Amino acid sequence: MSSQDLRAVTWTAAAEGGAPSLSLIDQTVLPHALNRLDVTTVDQLVDAIVRLVVRGAPAIGAAGGYGVALAMAQGEREGWDRARLDAEVARVRAARPTAVNLMVCVDRVAARIDEGAVAVLAEADAIVREDLAANHAMGAFGADWLLKRVPPGADRPLRILTHCNTGALATAGWGTALGVIRELHGRGRLETVYADETRPLLQGARLTAWELAQEGIPHFVQADGAAAGTILRGEVDAAIVGADRIAANGDTANKVGTVGIALACAYAGIPFVVAAPTTTVDLATATGSDIHIELRGEGEVLEWAGIRTAPAGSRGHNPAFDVTPGSLVTALVTERGVLEVGAGELPGVGLS
Ligand code: MRU
Repeated sequence: MSSQDLRAVTWTAAAEGGAPSLSLIDQTVLPHALNRLDVTTVDQLVDAIVRLVVRGAPAIGAAGGYGVALAMAQGEREGWDRARLDAEVARVRAARPTAVNLMVCVDRVAARIDEGAVAVLAEADAIVREDLAANHAMGAFGADWLLKRVPPGADRPLRILTHCNTGALATAGWGTALGVIRELHGRGRLETVYADETRPLLQGARLTAWELAQEGIPHFVQADGAAAGTILRGEVDAAIVGADRIAANGDTANKVGTVGIALACAYAGIPFVVAAPTTTVDLATATGSDIHIELRGEGEVLEWAGIRTAPAGSRGHNPAFDVTPGSLVTALVTERGVLEVGAGELPGVGLS
């Protein structure tokens, strides 16, 4: 199976007398193993989201939507009242704080609880269908926009830098920024991808490189610290990344390390592009400084594969995301088209 056809989040109806389950590709063990983890309870789902078994803003959103269906089924088995059900749904909603997709999707599905389990599941399924369609639309819009930026006459394939993983694993399928990269490759207009390894949990080296390798897309994995130098040496035509939350003024939260790439792109005069579905745009959040940045455990930066690398006594600082000012975002690719954010066209325009 090509990684294009991967489905990170799938629902399995209950067999006779059993419980329904949510099947998640276990992203903690890739690329060494392609295993699925089947969760049947809210505890298991929250643990899977916290440990990044399922990760990437749209995939977390999809898992959260099905989490409402999972909570209803568990509540049915265990005789929960409505207050308990609401409390369990709220735990799913709060499992990670930065990606707005989780809250949006949980709220959208929870709004149908009174209509019953069938309506809830239909809403969760719709989220997945819409995300997949949005990703394909973004791929085409993003590729068209990037190819227009190639200097006239220089009809050559592009060299694209990306950060973290924004592919099929991070979404309902195909991907956001990686979907644009897939589209360029499909059109024969991609020379190579620079995939930042993405410290500390290596989503780039483990997941993006794996998705690219599955499809024979040429790529280099590079240390995050190499990105600015690669850009300033002129080895990159554009950087394209995903997003976890985009504030009303265009400020964009994404995997830690993203803002450094944006600064290097601005200095080098090349496009810094964000590809994200409109479900990631949070018009209720005015600016990036209002975005809650998840602070993860110190061990993720003080240890390497469970072995302590920093001296005893060192403290770890581990923000999982950073905020890129909207003024550094050359363009925002959504399923509705491309907004030139840095040029002054705010995401609030046309996205309400
Ligand atoms: O901590 P993660 O792996 O969930 O972080 C993921 C990212 O930062 C992605 O770039 C973002 O969610 C967009 S995924 C299409």
